[in-house]
Amino acid sequence: MTIRWYPGHMGKALEQIGDLIKRVDVVIEVLDARLPFSSSNHKLEELRRTKPWIKVLNKHDLADSAVTKAWVREFEKQAGIRALPISARQHSETKQLIKLCQLLAPKRGKPGFPVRVMVVGIPNVGKSTLINTLAGRSMAKVGDKPAITTTTQLIDLKNGVVLNDTPGVLWPDMDDQPGAYRLATSGAIGANALDYTTVGLFAAEYVMQRYPGLLKNRYKLADMPDNATEFIESVGRCLGCLKSGGEIDLNRAAEAFLRELRAGKLGRVSLEEPVRDGADNEMLTASGSPL
Ligand code: G4P
Repeated sequence: MTIRWYPGHMGKALEQIGDLIKRVDVVIEVLDARLPFSSSNHKLEELRRTKPWIKVLNKHDLADSAVTKAWVREFEKQAGIRALPISARQHSETKQLIKLCQLLAPKRGKPGFPVRVMVVGIPNVGKSTLINTLAGRSMAKVGDKPAITTTTQLIDLKNGVVLNDTPGVLWPDMDDQPGAYRLATSGAIGANALDYTTVGLFAAEYVMQRYPGLLKNRYKLADMPDNATEFIESVGRCLGCLKSGGEIDLNRAAEAFLRELRAGKLGRVSLEEPVRDGADNEMLTASGSPL
């Protein structure tokens, strides 16, 4: 099944971001720490040029910390990029981000000349949560349904920093289907655009290879099942996802598995690791797809 999801407001939002970027000092690109490559929008990357750019690896509380450290090292090899793992729900961690913005715009942050920061990212990576934590109050709608912010808004943090909140934007062509499946696994793709069984099987295959101990522990498995379908059946048995005749409901089991994985119920899981292609023409990509 091919995953494509590009709600109508996103093209317009991308144009607005392109205009706004000229008038800000620093860009905060919020990524999902579990899939920092696939949750980075290459359309935003094209707008970067020399603008100071912070890649926030949010939800690091859900990701494998060794893998997150590897991503930070890789991102910071690129000129003009700083990378910071945080949990947007933790005020103490988001404070570091403000300090970094001030550091990257030393000529601003004076009365009448705030540091102008734009917050960008794909849906569901935690932009609204971050803005609410930084503002100390509810300014942006947080939700488990992706793409609920559809307009830009300006928020004065009253500490010499002004934030531009922007809607989550994806890209129209989802040519990197393994990446699209990782996005779907994380919850960044609208439920109407995916099939839980296919995405659940995709996610199961990866987690079975990379984190078998976490699965055995969570679903009380003596041995790892031979394949992803058998694994999802075990999840269905364990969580009671049954049809009326007692047969396992594979779709419900896959959905339940994804819900648990997304919420961190299995433990800390990263869905991709950094790899560099070629020595001369290096490009950061991601490994970790069984597709
Ligand atoms: P968005 O604006 O980029 O679309 O994302 P939003 O802030 O709405 O966050 C999407 C979901 O991710 C929310 O979950 C939010 O609580 C969760 N989230 C954001 N930051 C973090 C983080 O650092 N760690 C973890 N573990 N979760 C984070 P939700 O299902 O709507 O949950 P709830 O907060 O409503 O219970």
